[in-house]
Amino acid sequence: MLSFRWTGTLLAYLLSISNPSEQTPSETCFSSAGTLGSLVECLEKYTVPEKYYDQASYRKAQPTGPQREAWFTAVTSLLSTDNNCSSAIVPSALQDVYGAASFADTDGQSFCVLYEQTVSPSSGLFEKGWGFMVVPSSRNGVSRLLHLSAPHPFYEIGTTAQATDLFKETGAKSLLIPGRMLPAYNIPSTCITSPSKTVYYMTDPVHNDLEPFFDANRAIWEWQTQNGGCPSSSCAFIQFHGKATTTCAQDDIFLSTGLANGTWYTDGVDRPIKRLKKQLNIAFNSGTNTSMPLTISLPSDSRCTLTATKNIVGRYLNNYPITFSHDVCTQSSDPGSTNGVFIDVEQAAVVRGTSAREAWVQALKATFIEMHMNTEM
Ligand SMILES: *[C@@H]1O[C@H](CO)[C@@H](O)[C@H](O)[C@H]1NC(C)=O
Ligand SMILES: *[C@@H]1O[C@H](CO)[C@@H](O)[C@H](O)[C@H]1NC(C)=O
Ligand SMILES: *[C@@H]1O[C@H](CO)[C@@H](O)[C@H](O)[C@H]1NC(C)=O
Repeated sequence: MLSFRWTGTLLAYLLSISNPSEQTPSETCFSSAGTLGSLVECLEKYTVPEKYYDQASYRKAQPTGPQREAWFTAVTSLLSTDNNCSSAIVPSALQDVYGAASFADTDGQSFCVLYEQTVSPSSGLFEKGWGFMVVPSSRNGVSRLLHLSAPHPFYEIGTTAQATDLFKETGAKSLLIPGRMLPAYNIPSTCITSPSKTVYYMTDPVHNDLEPFFDANRAIWEWQTQNGGCPSSSCAFIQFHGKATTTCAQDDIFLSTGLANGTWYTDGVDRPIKRLKKQLNIAFNSGTNTSMPLTISLPSDSRCTLTATKNIVGRYLNNYPITFSHDVCTQSSDPGSTNGVFIDVEQAAVVRGTSAREAWVQALKATFIEMHMNTEM
């Protein structure tokens, strides 16, 4: 698998050298891909792999202060596009690294993509690896204020393709994929430090606020709060993860809001996660679908400890407003202050696969009502 990816990447790079239009390898994805799924698959091939960085190369790949601000601005501008997708979205501090371009899927839908243009000549991989992001190119293309991400490309197999398909099929507002593998720099995170036996790595975007994935989530949240808020009927930030077969083996889908078990999950209040669990059960386990009966749990149903309590995006969304965003490294989520806009999804392999797509789409559509962006914005 991995060697195929490397060969493919190298080939793409060699082809680009002889390309008269001087597109970078990542830019060539736009002309070679027919569907959003294949565009994302093409971009994902440039992901910075496991154990790639040492201290010097990691530092070199990290954004400078101005680049970090420009990245935040670029994400915000991307979310504001309405039939005006162009590289103008990218502030000058970032223009030699990032681009934005529209992409028309063969099925007729079109999207605006913020992506890294720079590919390292020596490795054939993203020079920076901060990630890429996709929105529908027009506001009319948005049905639900869902913000979907797959934080661990290649590491949690199938999650990038899954998040991409669900983004497209549900008419979600944004799709965010990091450009580095979780163990790209495999020394312990300086944000979520680990006295326990679980070690989180520097390049784990859900356990280190220095990863641009975190800034992108902050920008999305800020944009959302300034554009109608995040009503729990139609809006959520959903992270798609994969779990090992042996981890929480009793659960096929384990959902959490980044809070450990408690009355928050069992009280009578309507929460997105409770509706999602119910709708997933209908989509996967009712009627004719019982050939694939799945166990779908919340922290209140299961002893599974994948409750995402240290997920910094979850902490940020759950604790907002937060004084300093760096507090996410130390402050746990407060069940008293959250409406549950954050949903962490841990899944067995079968649930990430294409055979489960239709049921997932059905469940998401039934959980989050359709917006009428035209009239409301
Ligand atoms: C695109 O259009 C939207 C809506 O009119 C506007 O808010 C935004 O600033 C425009 N973006 C660019 C880069 O021109
Ligand atoms: C979770 O907490 C609720 C409420 O305190 C309790 O009823 C339930 O038994 C707990 N579930 C687990 C799996 O510990
Ligand atoms: C469940 O059944 C519905 C309706 O027949 C169908 O649309 C959906 O694809 C099925 N889901 C799975 C996972 O087979």
